[in-house]
Amino acid sequence: MSRSIKNIFFGFVIIFLIVQMIQPVRNIDYGQVPSSDISKVYQVPGNVQSILRTSCYDCHSNGTNYPVYAYIQPLSFFLENHIKEGKKELNFSEWGLYSQRKQTHKLEAIENQIKQRKMPLSSYLYLHHDAKLSDDKIKEVVDWIESIHTEDK
Ligand code: HEC
Repeated sequence: MSRSIKNIFFGFVIIFLIVQMIQPVRNIDYGQVPSSDISKVYQVPGNVQSILRTSCYDCHSNGTNYPVYAYIQPLSFFLENHIKEGKKELNFSEWGLYSQRKQTHKLEAIENQIKQRKMPLSSYLYLHHDAKLSDDKIKEVVDWIESIHTEDK
């Protein structure tokens, strides 16, 4: 390797290492289920709760289960951004703070998103195979959402 290529290489290594020091405040709830969690607002059957926790809670709750790569920049940055944007749209931990109208609207949005396979985000599924929703799982969530709608009427 010529000297200048070596210098450029080490320059990148040093920048990479320095950037690692920039770490965001983590979205962690230490296993606490707040009283505003969706599971405290409705009867959420165990299978549905487990699907939501595995496939959605990382971006749509106050408790992300961080994978190892989440501590490496710039991945950490992208992840934290997804969590921020995801929570703004929908936060299962704060469901009880939503108005009735917003809850109804969000339930419809969840049904639409998963039926169209827009959620979980495909970039996330790439690293989280267990979060992928099978047809059966989609049906289980959709059936549950529809059972809530009929309760309302
Ligand atoms: C990797 C992070 C991530 C995961 C996992 C994830 N989402 Fe999202 N979700 C987002 C982001 C970011 C947005 C906002 C931007 C967008 O719509 O793409 C969003 C938007 C949404 C919206 C739109 C809200 C609205 O009112 O239009 C719904 C509904 C939703 N997600 C449901 C789900 C459900 C249900 C799951 C689990 C099956 C899930 N998401 C999993 C990141 C995620």
